[in-house]
Amino acid sequence: MLSIPFNRQYITGKELNYIQDCIARGSLASSGYYTGLTQEMLEKTLNCQRVLLTTSATSALELAMLSLDIKAGDEVILPSYTFVSTANPILLRGARPIFAEIDPDTLTIDIDDVAQKITTRTRCIIPVHYSGVSCDMDKLISLAIQNNIQIMEDAAQGVGAFYKHKPLGTIGCLSCYSFHATKNIVSGEGGALIINDLDADKILQVEAYYEKGTNRRQFLRGAVERYTWTEVGSSFGMSDLLAAYLYAQLENLELVTSLRKQKFMIYQQEFAACEIMEKLQLPKWYDYSQPNYHIYYMLCPDQYKRNVLLDRLKQKNIEATFHYIPLHSSPMGLSLGYQVSDLPITEDISSRLIRLPIYPDLTELEQQYVIDSVREIVDSW
Ligand SMILES: Cc1ncc(COP(=O)(O)O)c(C=O)c1O
Repeated sequence: MLSIPFNRQYITGKELNYIQDCIARGSLASSGYYTGLTQEMLEKTLNCQRVLLTTSATSALELAMLSLDIKAGDEVILPSYTFVSTANPILLRGARPIFAEIDPDTLTIDIDDVAQKITTRTRCIIPVHYSGVSCDMDKLISLAIQNNIQIMEDAAQGVGAFYKHKPLGTIGCLSCYSFHATKNIVSGEGGALIINDLDADKILQVEAYYEKGTNRRQFLRGAVERYTWTEVGSSFGMSDLLAAYLYAQLENLELVTSLRKQKFMIYQQEFAACEIMEKLQLPKWYDYSQPNYHIYYMLCPDQYKRNVLLDRLKQKNIEATFHYIPLHSSPMGLSLGYQVSDLPITEDISSRLIRLPIYPDLTELEQQYVIDSVREIVDSW
């Protein structure tokens, strides 16, 4: 019997060369040769103000909340259907996360629900680009402008995806990417803060937060003679060794996306009949989205059937998974005063969702085995 892991990391071929070169250059910390190259490459392709490579998307989100001066008494709206790292940075600043519903078709934040949840305390909205698909960003931006609220995109899953031909991560004032081992483009652990719309003084301040509270970045650019402690700050920078690995991956972003697209479209075609018979609901997006095929998820008719499907696939050595446990109904969410019944769409989606293995070197044979196994189980429903 075949054995199919949920994830398999794609090696482009240049990773070791660049890591060797990085070692030979002798500068392994952040702000080395490869961090510089990678940041420049991203700044050019994203056409943004600044990219700061970070140790993770989690740390980029923490840096973002610090940069937007989110503090006690503030509210930040985000979907409950997301990873914990979208919410933790809000609480770390002493502010309150306000959980919104998702659109049941795209699983992205429900903008009408966001509108209902805006108060005089709302400082920021964090749309999460689930599986590399965004909500209607124009509509969200105009809501934010009307209410004088910042947008921070959680584009952890959005590398290589677009909204109306604009790369995800370039639309909000700030955004983050993740290069965690499970993402399309990886460095093991890693991320980036993308700065799109801050004034020049504020960018210097963000750089200081990033550089342990110092103006070292200005020193590295030759703008000051020596560097010193100017702000509160922390250590957010990615090691040059990881950036060397990441550079090799990012050079192949289009290839990785197109290989994932092939696998994704095969699943879509093969399961189309199941959708017509209303046995499965397949991933959807609106015309304004060009996804990056990060996740292949399906919605089962109910939780029981989803769990049976997970178990039966496991028996066939196919590693399929579910996620997320909604944040509002997690122990932490409940301790903040939320109730399970607050967000029924989120609860429902979470109980019915299953994700299948998808990665560039999933072989034809392996994918056919996954498809046949799913069909065999779903056909009996
Ligand atoms: C939506 C979302 N936000 C944030 C993160 C955190 O990313 P990282 O693991 O790079 O900290 C993830 C990771 O899975 C994610 O899916």
